[in-house]
Amino acid sequence: MSNVAVFGAGYVGLVTGACFAQLGHDVVVRDINEERISALQAGRVPIFEPGLEQVLEEHGERIRFTTDVGDAVESAEFVYVAVGTPPTHSGDADLSAVWTVVDELPQVGRRIVVVMKSTVPVGTGEKVRHRLDARGLTDVGYASNPEFTAEGTALRDFMTPDRIVVGAFREEDGDAVAALHDGIAAPIVRCDVASAEMVKLAANAALMTRISFINEIANVCEATGADVVRVAEGVGLDRRIGPSFLRAGIGYGGSCFPKDSLALKQLAANSGYHFQLLSAVIEVNELQKRRVLAKLERHLGSLRGRTVALLGLAFKANTDDMREAPSLVLAGRLQSEGATVRAWDPVARPRDLKDVEQLDTLEEALAGADAAVIVTEWSELADLDWAAVAQTMKTPVVIDGRNMLDPAEMRAAGYRYEAIGRAAPGNGPETT
Ligand code: UGA
Repeated sequence: MSNVAVFGAGYVGLVTGACFAQLGHDVVVRDINEERISALQAGRVPIFEPGLEQVLEEHGERIRFTTDVGDAVESAEFVYVAVGTPPTHSGDADLSAVWTVVDELPQVGRRIVVVMKSTVPVGTGEKVRHRLDARGLTDVGYASNPEFTAEGTALRDFMTPDRIVVGAFREEDGDAVAALHDGIAAPIVRCDVASAEMVKLAANAALMTRISFINEIANVCEATGADVVRVAEGVGLDRRIGPSFLRAGIGYGGSCFPKDSLALKQLAANSGYHFQLLSAVIEVNELQKRRVLAKLERHLGSLRGRTVALLGLAFKANTDDMREAPSLVLAGRLQSEGATVRAWDPVARPRDLKDVEQLDTLEEALAGADAAVIVTEWSELADLDWAAVAQTMKTPVVIDGRNMLDPAEMRAAGYRYEAIGRAAPGNGPETT
C-alpha cells in the first residue's frame, strides 16, 4: 500500500482521497482553506456528495487532513493535484493553483510522483516537467491521471470506472500510478502525458456534443410534432450510438462542461485552429437555457408582475453544486423580464441568488405561483401530488425542463404542461 498526498479538498480531491483510502492506501488531503480543513478534521464534510461522508468515516484511520505542505508531503510517494482550474476571462484555464502546488513542493530526497487529476490544457504536463526540472526536482516524476467521475455518483464512478487513463513521461511512473488502482476492475489506457490530457477534454466534449445534439433534435421535434423522448429511445438503441447522454433538457451546466468546453475551444484557438463543432455546441447550450422564457410567455403573455417558481436550483440532481447552473441564467432572465422569482431545492441553498425567495417545501414554492419551471430532476418532483398542488397555483402552468413528468397525467391533473421537445400529437404544447 502507498502513501498518497492529495492537494485540494474540493469535490475531486475529497473523492480521490476517500477512494484511495478505501483501496487501502494512507492518504493526507491538503488544502489552503483552513475552515474547510478544520471541518474535515472534525468529521464534517463540507460538500454534498452521496456516500462520501460514510466512506470518510469508515476509512478514517487511513485519511487525515492538513493545511501544511510539509506535513502532507513528508511521507508521500504520490502527490495528487486536485485543485481548481477555473476559466480566465480569455476562456483559457487558470492554472495558478496548479503552479502554486508545483512551486511549494519541497525537496524530499526520494522519488515521488506528481499526478495531475485537475483538468488542464494539453501541454500542461510538459510545462510542469520543465518547471520541476528548473527547480532542480529532476527526480520528481510526473503523470496525468484524469478523472471521469460525475458529481452525485462520484464514488461509484471512481471505484467502478469505464477506464483508467494514465499518461507518464517515464514508464515506471505510469506503472506505479496504475498500480495505485489495484482492486479496481477496469481497462487501463497507458499513453503519453499529452494524450492523457486530451482524453479528458475530448471525452467531456463528446458528452456535451451529444447533449447539444439531442437538444437541437428536441427543438426540431417541437416544430414538427415528434416526441424527443421516444426519438432518443429509438436512436439510443442503436449499439453504435448508445443511450447515454441523450436526455434533452434545459442545457448542461456544472463545474466541468461549460469550463472545459471553453478551455478546449481556447486551446485550439491558441494554436490557430477554429474548433467549429465545439463553438456550435456551446452556442446551442446557451440558447437552450433561454428557450424556457419563450415557452412561459406563450402561456402567460408578458412575464411582468408574474410569479415563477424554479423547482430545483442545483445544476443537476444529487448535488448542491450551483456552478453554471441553468437556474442562475433563468432567474436572471426572468427578473429582467419583470417576473418575481422564487425557488425550491432540497439541498442547494445559494447565498448569492439575488431577490429570489428560497422556500423549504414544494408546496410553499408553488402556492400562488403563475407558473413553475422544473429545472433540476430531483426525485421529489416525481413523487409530488401534482393534482393537489394544481389547486393552489394561481395559474397551473408547468414547464418541465427535464422531461421527468408524464404529459398526459399532468394535463389530466389540470395543468398547462409543456416539456422539452415533446410535441407529438396528444402530447403537444397546446397553449389553451
Ligand atoms: C461531467 C462528466 O460526466 C464526468 O465524466 C467528468 O468527470 C466531469 O464532468 C468532470 O469533468 O469533472 P458532471 O458535470 O458532474 O460530470 O455531471 P454530468 O452528469 O455529466 O452532467 C453534466 C450536465 O449535463 C448537467 O447539467 C446535466 O443535467 C446535463 N445532462 C447530462 C443533460 O442535459 N442531458 C444528459 O443526457 C446528460
